[in-house]
Amino acid sequence: MKSVLDFQDKKNRKQKITMITCYDYTFATIVADSDIDCLLIGDSLANTMHGFTTTLNATVNMMALHTAAVARGAGAKKFIVSDMPFMSNRKGLTSAMTSAEKIMKAGAHAVKLEGGDEFTYKIVRHLVNSGVPVMGHLGLTPQSVHQLGGFKVQGRDEKAQAKIKEQALRLQEAGAFCVVLELVPSVLAAEISKSLDIPTIGIGAGPDTDGQVLVLQDLLGMNQGFKPKFLKTYFNGFDAMKEAFNTYHDEVVHGKFPTEKESYS
Ligand code: KIV
Repeated sequence: MKSVLDFQDKKNRKQKITMITCYDYTFATIVADSDIDCLLIGDSLANTMHGFTTTLNATVNMMALHTAAVARGAGAKKFIVSDMPFMSNRKGLTSAMTSAEKIMKAGAHAVKLEGGDEFTYKIVRHLVNSGVPVMGHLGLTPQSVHQLGGFKVQGRDEKAQAKIKEQALRLQEAGAFCVVLELVPSVLAAEISKSLDIPTIGIGAGPDTDGQVLVLQDLLGMNQGFKPKFLKTYFNGFDAMKEAFNTYHDEVVHGKFPTEKESYS
């Protein structure tokens, strides 16, 4: 997928959209060569790349730095979305626009922002009218983890479900081209996906969203001990890489590497 139009096209054709997070040049070259549709420089880089326990520590400068690295790795092959990090879109229109400008100039093709309230819709409208495609993010919005009381499934009761449905519609009306639904019951995600014209991308939102997103390190099994119900790992990255490191160590220690083959005459 190369443009925002491809998202709508996929939804219209009932083809699933695949997105994974990516934060660096090397992985971006690999993902760009794969069938994955779209790369997300998630503010989850605060966790995966910088070791923080929440995404609150991601900054606009961090987002721009990682976006630029991914953009260099992916070239023009994939659509690149970058997160507006914690507070970057909450302090007023001008500062939100300045943050989005920095992230877009670093190489993103769209920005993603969390939440659904009047202020968010206003920012979304202004970004879209300024030529910046916007992906919404509802359900569990990790930047509000302390307000939500933890990383919990959202939309469990009728009132909360009605609110998320309304937020999704309002984001669509404001001009968002897509909405991420995180940690919500499958039935709710299915209803929202059916009711919206724009595509939804789910994570922990069941099989009936228009696409799926996973964090790259989770998908590759690199995040040892992180086994939420929604996650499927496609590689035992932690053990596979550890084994490679140990084999290298062992060969150096026992004089098996380098050999003549890896040496210059
Ligand atoms: O930051 C992130 O990785 C995300 C995905 C989980 C959707 O927002």
